[in-house]
Amino acid sequence: MEKLWGGRFDGQNSNLLEVFNASIGFDKELWEYDILGSKVHAKMLFGIGVLDEKEYIAIFDGLEKISDRIKKNEFEFRIYDEDIHMAIESALTQLIGDTAKKLHTARSRNDQIVFDFKMYVLEHNQIIRQKILDLSDILLDIAKEHTETIMPGMTHLQHAQPVNFGFHMVAWCVNFKRDYQRFCDSYERNNYFPLGVGAMAGTPYGNNREEMARSLGFIAPTLNAMDTVSQRDFALDLLYDISMLMMHISRIAEELVLWSSYEFRFITLSDMYSTGSSIMPQKKNPDVPELLRGKSGRVFGNLIALLTVMKGLPLAYNKDTQEDKEGVFDSVNTAIISLDILKEVLSTMSIHTENMANMANIGHLTATDLADFLVKEKNIPFREAHHITGKIVAFAEKKGLDITELNEDEISDIASFEMKGIKNILNLRTSMNARDSLGGTASIRTKEQISYLEKWLDGCKNG
Ligand code: ARG
Repeated sequence: MEKLWGGRFDGQNSNLLEVFNASIGFDKELWEYDILGSKVHAKMLFGIGVLDEKEYIAIFDGLEKISDRIKKNEFEFRIYDEDIHMAIESALTQLIGDTAKKLHTARSRNDQIVFDFKMYVLEHNQIIRQKILDLSDILLDIAKEHTETIMPGMTHLQHAQPVNFGFHMVAWCVNFKRDYQRFCDSYERNNYFPLGVGAMAGTPYGNNREEMARSLGFIAPTLNAMDTVSQRDFALDLLYDISMLMMHISRIAEELVLWSSYEFRFITLSDMYSTGSSIMPQKKNPDVPELLRGKSGRVFGNLIALLTVMKGLPLAYNKDTQEDKEGVFDSVNTAIISLDILKEVLSTMSIHTENMANMANIGHLTATDLADFLVKEKNIPFREAHHITGKIVAFAEKKGLDITELNEDEISDIASFEMKGIKNILNLRTSMNARDSLGGTASIRTKEQISYLEKWLDGCKNG
C-alpha cells in the first residue's frame, strides 16, 4: 500500500523507521479534535469554493461515520498510518473514495497537529480548573467548621504561635486560588485558532480563518503562520500550571503524612484511603498522600522535558515537537486523579481537635504575646522585651513547664515588672484572637477570609 505522502519515493520504508517515526500510538488520543478540525476545514473549503456542496456533505458524513466507528472501538489504528491525521484521512478515502483526497487542500499536518493538541490543552485546562474549584469547596467547608479550633502554628516545623485550624485550611485554599487564576490566564493567552496556516507560510486559497475561529469560540486566528506551527508555548504553559498545582498538592500531602503520624495525631485518614503493611499487621499507611507528594516528580520532569525539546529549535515545524504530547497527557492525567483523590481524602479524614489543642500547650506558643505585653503595657523596646521573655521561657523549661503554666509572681520576678493580667494574655485562645490584623489568624479574621474565598468561588462557578 502506498503512503499518503509516497509520491516521491521509490523504495519502501523500513519497519524500524515506521515504528520509530509513528505517533499514532499516542496521538490517537486526539482523534475527536482531529475529526472536528477536519469538519471545520471542510466547511471552510466549501465556503471558499474548493468543495461543492455534494463533496462537503460526503466528507462530513464520512467523518461522522469514522467518529462512530472509533467510539464503538471498531476502528483499527495502524502503525502504518503514522499519525492520527493520516489514519483518519485514509479511512475517509476508503469510505467515500476520491472526494476525500480534496480534504487536504489548503492545510498541512503541521497546522492540524497544533489544532488537535491545542484543543486538548484548552479543554483539559478547563477540566482541571473545575476540579480545583471542587477541591477549594471542600477546604472551605472544613475551614468553616474549625475557626475556633486551636492548633500550634509552625515555622521551621517548630511550634511558633497558636492559630486556628480553619486558618490553616484557608492558607491551603489561597494556593489553589492562585492556581486557578494561572490556568485562566494561560487559557486566555492561548485561545487563538491555529488551523488554516498551512505548512508554515499560509496558503494561496484565501482560507477563511476568521470564520473557522469564530465558529469554535476562539478569540481570533493566530497572527503568524510560521509561529503557529513552530511554537508549543500553550503546552508548556499547561505543564507549568500543572507543576505549580502539583507542587502545592505535594506540600499539603506532606502535612497530611505528618499529621497522621503518632507524633502529631491531628488527623486519621479514612480506611477508604489508607493502606496496610504486608509485614507489620498494626500499620495504617498514608500511601495516598505519599503518592500525591511523589507525583510532582513526574510532572516537573514533563515540563523540563518539553522545555528541553523546544530549546534551540529553528523555525518553523520540526519533527522534534512530536515529543510534546506524551508528557502533557501524563501530567494532565496525573493532575486530574490527584485532585479527585485529594478531595476524597480531605472530606473523609477525621480531625482530632483535642490533640491539636494538647499540642498547642507545648512549646511556649504565646511567648510572643508576653513580649508584646511588655512592649504595650511597660513601654519596653521590643528587642529588650524579647530578651526578658527568653529568660522566662528558660525558667519554665528548667521547671519542665510551659510558660502558660507559670504563675504571675514567678513571671513578675524574672521580668522585674509587675505583670498583673499576664495569665490571661498567655491563654492560647486570647493569643490567637489577638492576632486580628488584616490577614491574621483571629477567628473573626479567618471568617472574613473564608467569606472572601466563598465569594470568589461563587464568582468562578457563575462566571
Ligand atoms: N505526528 C506529528 C506531530 O506530532 C504531526 C505533524 C507531522 N508533520 C509533518 N510534517 N511530519 O508533530
